[in-house]
Amino acid sequence: MAVVTGATGGLGSAICRGLAGAGARVVVTFHRHEAAAHSLLEDLTGEGHVSVKADVTDSASLGRLAREIGERYGTVDLLVNSVGTTRFVPHADLAALDDDLIDEIFRTNWRGPFATIRALEPLLSNRDGGLVVNISSIAGVSGVGSNIAYCASKAALNTMTVSLARALAPAVRVVSIAPGLVDTEFIKGLDPDWRREQASRTPLGRLASPEDVSRAVIAAATMLSYSTGCIMSVDGGRLVD
Ligand SMILES: NC(=O)c1ccc[n+]([C@@H]2O[C@H](COP(=O)([O-])OP(=O)(O)OC[C@H]3O[C@@H](n4cnc5c(N)ncnc54)[C@H](OP(=O)(O)O)[C@@H]3O)[C@@H](O)[C@H]2O)c1
Repeated sequence: MAVVTGATGGLGSAICRGLAGAGARVVVTFHRHEAAAHSLLEDLTGEGHVSVKADVTDSASLGRLAREIGERYGTVDLLVNSVGTTRFVPHADLAALDDDLIDEIFRTNWRGPFATIRALEPLLSNRDGGLVVNISSIAGVSGVGSNIAYCASKAALNTMTVSLARALAPAVRVVSIAPGLVDTEFIKGLDPDWRREQASRTPLGRLASPEDVSRAVIAAATMLSYSTGCIMSVDGGRLVD
Protein backbone atom coordinates (compact mmCIF):
# COMPACT_ATOMS: atom_id res chain seq x y z
CA MET A 1 0.00 0.00 0.00
CA ALA A 2 1.38 3.38 -1.02
CA VAL A 3 0.65 6.85 0.37
CA VAL A 4 1.36 9.80 -1.93
CA THR A 5 1.39 13.41 -0.72
CA GLY A 6 1.17 16.16 -3.32
CA ALA A 7 -0.86 13.59 -5.24
CA THR A 8 -2.91 16.15 -7.17
CA GLY A 9 0.24 17.81 -8.56
CA GLY A 10 1.74 17.28 -12.00
CA LEU A 11 4.29 14.78 -10.69
CA GLY A 12 2.25 13.34 -7.82
CA SER A 13 -0.63 12.34 -10.09
CA ALA A 14 1.75 10.56 -12.51
CA ILE A 15 3.33 8.76 -9.56
CA CYS A 16 -0.13 7.62 -8.37
CA ARG A 17 -1.01 6.35 -11.86
CA GLY A 18 2.32 4.53 -12.15
CA LEU A 19 2.02 2.89 -8.73
CA ALA A 20 -1.57 1.80 -9.36
CA GLY A 21 -0.52 0.44 -12.77
CA ALA A 22 2.21 -1.55 -11.01
CA GLY A 23 -0.39 -3.13 -8.73
CA ALA A 24 -0.25 -0.96 -5.60
CA ARG A 25 -3.25 0.27 -3.66
CA VAL A 26 -2.80 4.04 -3.41
CA VAL A 27 -3.86 6.55 -0.77
CA VAL A 28 -4.22 9.77 -2.78
CA THR A 29 -3.84 12.64 -0.33
CA PHE A 30 -5.09 16.09 -1.25
CA HIS A 31 -4.77 19.54 0.28
CA ARG A 32 -6.97 22.10 -1.53
CA HIS A 33 -8.09 20.17 -4.61
CA GLU A 34 -10.61 17.52 -3.55
CA ALA A 35 -12.26 17.33 -7.00
CA ALA A 36 -8.87 16.70 -8.65
CA ALA A 37 -8.20 13.91 -6.15
CA HIS A 38 -11.56 12.30 -6.92
CA SER A 39 -11.06 12.41 -10.68
CA LEU A 40 -7.54 10.99 -10.23
CA LEU A 41 -9.02 8.11 -8.19
CA GLU A 42 -11.38 7.30 -11.07
CA ASP A 43 -8.38 7.21 -13.40
CA LEU A 44 -6.36 4.69 -11.39
CA THR A 45 -6.25 1.08 -12.51
CA GLY A 46 -6.92 -1.62 -9.92
CA GLU A 47 -8.93 -1.45 -6.73
CA GLY A 48 -8.66 -0.37 -3.11
CA HIS A 49 -7.54 3.24 -3.72
CA VAL A 50 -8.87 6.04 -1.50
CA SER A 51 -8.43 9.79 -1.21
CA VAL A 52 -7.82 11.49 2.15
CA LYS A 53 -7.40 15.18 2.95
CA ALA A 54 -4.09 16.09 4.61
CA ASP A 55 -2.24 19.38 5.07
CA VAL A 56 1.44 18.56 5.60
CA THR A 57 1.97 21.84 7.49
CA ASP A 58 -0.63 20.78 10.09
CA SER A 59 0.54 17.90 12.31
CA ALA A 60 -2.98 17.30 13.66
CA SER A 61 -4.14 16.72 10.09
CA LEU A 62 -1.27 14.24 9.56
CA GLY A 63 -2.24 12.48 12.81
CA ARG A 64 -5.77 12.00 11.43
CA LEU A 65 -4.28 10.69 8.15
CA ALA A 66 -2.16 8.15 10.06
CA ARG A 67 -5.14 7.00 12.15
CA GLU A 68 -7.36 6.56 9.10
CA ILE A 69 -4.69 4.61 7.20
CA GLY A 70 -3.86 2.52 10.28
CA GLU A 71 -7.51 1.54 10.77
CA ARG A 72 -8.08 0.81 7.09
CA TYR A 73 -4.81 -0.89 6.03
CA GLY A 74 -2.74 -1.57 9.19
CA THR A 75 0.61 -0.87 7.51
CA VAL A 76 2.22 1.37 4.88
CA ASP A 77 4.72 -0.12 2.39
CA LEU A 78 5.63 3.11 0.61
CA LEU A 79 5.34 6.82 1.37
CA VAL A 80 6.08 9.23 -1.49
CA ASN A 81 6.57 12.82 -0.36
CA SER A 82 5.76 14.76 -3.53
CA VAL A 83 4.51 17.95 -1.89
CA GLY A 84 6.23 21.15 -2.83
CA THR A 85 5.73 24.84 -3.19
CA THR A 86 7.74 27.63 -4.78
CA ARG A 87 7.56 30.90 -6.68
CA PHE A 88 9.99 32.38 -9.21
CA VAL A 89 12.28 34.99 -7.58
CA PRO A 90 15.48 36.08 -9.37
CA HIS A 91 18.42 35.01 -7.19
CA ALA A 92 19.97 38.50 -7.19
CA ASP A 93 16.74 40.14 -5.97
CA LEU A 94 17.27 39.50 -2.25
CA ALA A 95 14.48 41.87 -1.16
CA ALA A 96 11.89 39.89 -3.12
CA LEU A 97 12.67 36.70 -1.21
CA ASP A 98 10.85 37.88 1.91
CA ASP A 99 10.54 36.09 5.26
CA ASP A 100 6.99 34.90 4.61
CA LEU A 101 7.95 33.16 1.37
CA ILE A 102 11.07 31.61 2.93
CA ASP A 103 9.00 30.28 5.86
CA GLU A 104 6.27 28.95 3.57
CA ILE A 105 8.82 27.11 1.42
CA PHE A 106 10.60 25.48 4.37
CA ARG A 107 7.32 24.72 6.18
CA THR A 108 5.99 22.89 3.11
CA ASN A 109 9.11 21.46 1.44
CA TRP A 110 11.08 20.35 4.52
CA ARG A 111 8.93 20.34 7.65
CA GLY A 112 6.01 18.86 5.68
CA PRO A 113 7.81 15.70 4.53
CA PHE A 114 9.47 15.31 7.93
CA ALA A 115 6.15 15.62 9.79
CA THR A 116 4.54 13.14 7.37
CA ILE A 117 7.30 10.58 7.93
CA ARG A 118 7.04 11.17 11.71
CA ALA A 119 3.29 10.53 11.63
CA LEU A 120 3.50 7.40 9.43
CA GLU A 121 6.71 5.87 10.80
CA PRO A 122 4.93 3.35 13.09
CA LEU A 123 2.98 2.09 10.04
CA LEU A 124 6.08 2.06 7.80
CA SER A 125 8.10 -0.02 10.29
CA ASN A 126 6.29 -3.20 9.28
CA ARG A 127 7.62 -6.73 8.99
CA ASP A 128 8.39 -6.45 5.26
CA GLY A 129 10.23 -3.13 5.55
CA GLY A 130 8.87 0.27 4.56
CA LEU A 131 10.21 2.74 2.02
CA VAL A 132 10.10 6.54 1.95
CA VAL A 133 10.77 8.34 -1.35
CA ASN A 134 11.34 12.07 -0.99
CA ILE A 135 10.89 13.95 -4.27
CA SER A 136 13.64 16.58 -4.08
CA SER A 137 15.26 18.30 -7.07
CA ILE A 138 18.66 18.73 -8.69
CA ALA A 139 18.20 22.34 -7.50
CA GLY A 140 19.25 20.99 -4.09
CA VAL A 141 22.69 20.19 -5.54
CA SER A 142 23.15 22.79 -8.29
CA GLY A 143 21.70 25.80 -6.42
CA VAL A 144 19.92 26.64 -9.69
CA GLY A 145 16.14 26.82 -9.38
CA SER A 146 13.04 28.95 -8.92
CA ASN A 147 14.52 30.81 -5.95
CA ILE A 148 17.34 30.46 -3.41
CA ALA A 149 15.08 29.22 -0.58
CA TYR A 150 13.59 26.52 -2.85
CA CYS A 151 17.10 25.24 -3.71
CA ALA A 152 18.03 25.25 0.00
CA SER A 153 14.83 23.43 0.97
CA LYS A 154 15.65 20.63 -1.48
CA ALA A 155 19.26 20.41 -0.22
CA ALA A 156 17.82 20.14 3.31
CA LEU A 157 15.39 17.45 2.16
CA ASN A 158 18.36 15.48 0.81
CA THR A 159 20.23 15.66 4.13
CA MET A 160 17.01 14.59 5.88
CA THR A 161 16.99 11.55 3.59
CA VAL A 162 20.52 10.66 4.71
CA SER A 163 19.82 11.27 8.43
CA LEU A 164 16.58 9.26 8.43
CA ALA A 165 18.07 6.44 6.35
CA ARG A 166 20.56 6.00 9.17
CA ALA A 167 18.06 6.55 12.00
CA LEU A 168 15.25 4.33 10.70
CA ALA A 169 17.36 1.42 9.34
CA PRO A 170 16.86 -1.44 8.98
CA ALA A 171 13.06 -1.14 9.28
CA VAL A 172 12.60 1.69 6.79
CA ARG A 173 14.63 2.64 3.71
CA VAL A 174 14.69 6.33 2.77
CA VAL A 175 15.78 7.69 -0.62
CA SER A 176 15.55 10.96 -2.52
CA ILE A 177 14.62 11.12 -6.18
CA ALA A 178 15.93 14.37 -7.61
CA PRO A 179 14.33 15.33 -10.93
CA GLY A 180 15.61 17.97 -13.29
CA LEU A 181 13.01 20.14 -15.00
CA VAL A 182 9.87 18.03 -15.59
CA ASP A 183 7.47 18.75 -18.45
CA THR A 184 4.36 19.23 -16.29
CA GLU A 185 1.41 21.47 -17.24
CA PHE A 186 3.07 24.30 -15.31
CA ILE A 187 6.29 24.08 -17.33
CA LYS A 188 4.34 23.66 -20.60
CA GLY A 189 2.85 27.11 -19.93
CA LEU A 190 6.26 28.83 -19.85
CA ASP A 191 8.06 30.51 -22.77
CA PRO A 192 8.63 27.81 -25.48
CA ASP A 193 12.08 29.26 -26.34
CA TRP A 194 13.13 28.93 -22.69
CA ARG A 195 11.86 25.34 -22.59
CA ARG A 196 13.75 24.51 -25.81
CA GLU A 197 16.93 26.03 -24.36
CA GLN A 198 16.56 23.97 -21.16
CA ALA A 199 16.12 20.80 -23.22
CA SER A 200 19.13 21.60 -25.41
CA ARG A 201 21.29 22.09 -22.30
CA THR A 202 20.35 18.60 -21.10
CA PRO A 203 22.66 15.79 -22.37
CA LEU A 204 19.69 13.50 -23.14
CA GLY A 205 18.20 16.36 -25.21
CA ARG A 206 14.77 16.63 -23.59
CA LEU A 207 13.06 17.55 -20.34
CA ALA A 208 11.91 14.77 -18.02
CA SER A 209 8.36 13.51 -18.38
CA PRO A 210 6.31 12.92 -15.23
CA GLU A 211 6.43 9.22 -16.19
CA ASP A 212 10.27 9.24 -16.06
CA VAL A 213 9.96 10.24 -12.39
CA SER A 214 7.13 7.81 -11.71
CA ARG A 215 9.20 4.94 -13.14
CA ALA A 216 12.10 5.89 -10.83
CA VAL A 217 9.76 5.67 -7.82
CA ILE A 218 8.55 2.24 -8.95
CA ALA A 219 12.16 1.11 -9.47
CA ALA A 220 13.06 2.21 -5.93
CA ALA A 221 10.05 0.31 -4.56
CA THR A 222 10.40 -2.89 -6.60
CA MET A 223 14.07 -3.32 -7.61
CA LEU A 224 16.45 -1.25 -5.48
CA SER A 225 16.13 -3.41 -2.38
CA TYR A 226 19.67 -2.60 -1.11
CA SER A 227 19.50 1.20 -1.58
CA THR A 228 18.95 3.63 1.26
CA GLY A 229 20.22 7.12 2.07
CA CYS A 230 20.94 7.90 -1.58
CA ILE A 231 20.01 10.81 -3.82
CA MET A 232 19.07 9.55 -7.28
CA SER A 233 19.07 12.11 -10.08
CA VAL A 234 16.42 11.78 -12.79
CA ASP A 235 17.69 14.69 -14.85
CA GLY A 236 18.80 13.46 -18.28
CA GLY A 237 22.40 14.15 -17.23
CA ARG A 238 21.80 17.85 -16.58
CA LEU A 239 24.04 17.86 -13.50
CA VAL A 240 27.04 16.56 -15.43
CA ASP A 241 26.63 19.09 -18.24
N1 LIG B 1 7.82 20.05 -11.87
C1 LIG B 1 9.15 20.10 -11.91
O1 LIG B 1 9.76 20.50 -12.91
C2 LIG B 1 9.93 19.61 -10.72
C3 LIG B 1 11.31 19.43 -10.84
C4 LIG B 1 12.03 18.98 -9.77
C5 LIG B 1 11.40 18.71 -8.58
N2 LIG B 1 10.05 18.90 -8.45
C6 LIG B 1 9.43 18.60 -7.16
O2 LIG B 1 8.48 17.58 -7.34
C7 LIG B 1 7.41 17.73 -6.42
C8 LIG B 1 6.10 17.77 -7.19
O3 LIG B 1 6.15 18.80 -8.16
P1 LIG B 1 4.90 19.14 -9.07
O4 LIG B 1 5.42 19.67 -10.33
O5 LIG B 1 3.96 17.98 -9.06
O6 LIG B 1 4.28 20.36 -8.24
P2 LIG B 1 2.76 20.88 -8.23
O7 LIG B 1 2.06 20.48 -9.46
O8 LIG B 1 2.82 22.31 -7.84
O9 LIG B 1 2.13 20.04 -7.02
C9 LIG B 1 2.46 20.31 -5.68
C10 LIG B 1 1.56 19.47 -4.82
O10 LIG B 1 1.85 19.76 -3.44
C11 LIG B 1 0.63 19.94 -2.75
N3 LIG B 1 0.79 20.78 -1.57
C12 LIG B 1 1.29 22.04 -1.48
N4 LIG B 1 1.23 22.48 -0.21
C13 LIG B 1 0.68 21.46 0.52
C14 LIG B 1 0.34 21.30 1.88
N5 LIG B 1 0.57 22.25 2.79
N6 LIG B 1 -0.19 20.11 2.28
C15 LIG B 1 -0.42 19.11 1.41
N7 LIG B 1 -0.14 19.21 0.08
C16 LIG B 1 0.39 20.37 -0.34
C17 LIG B 1 -0.26 20.62 -3.78
O11 LIG B 1 -1.61 20.53 -3.38
P3 LIG B 1 -2.50 21.90 -3.37
O12 LIG B 1 -2.34 22.51 -4.74
O13 LIG B 1 -3.87 21.43 -3.08
O14 LIG B 1 -1.92 22.77 -2.30
C18 LIG B 1 0.06 19.80 -5.02
O15 LIG B 1 -0.67 18.59 -5.02
C19 LIG B 1 7.68 19.02 -5.65
O16 LIG B 1 8.33 18.70 -4.43
C20 LIG B 1 8.66 19.76 -6.56
O17 LIG B 1 9.49 20.62 -5.83
C21 LIG B 1 9.30 19.33 -9.50
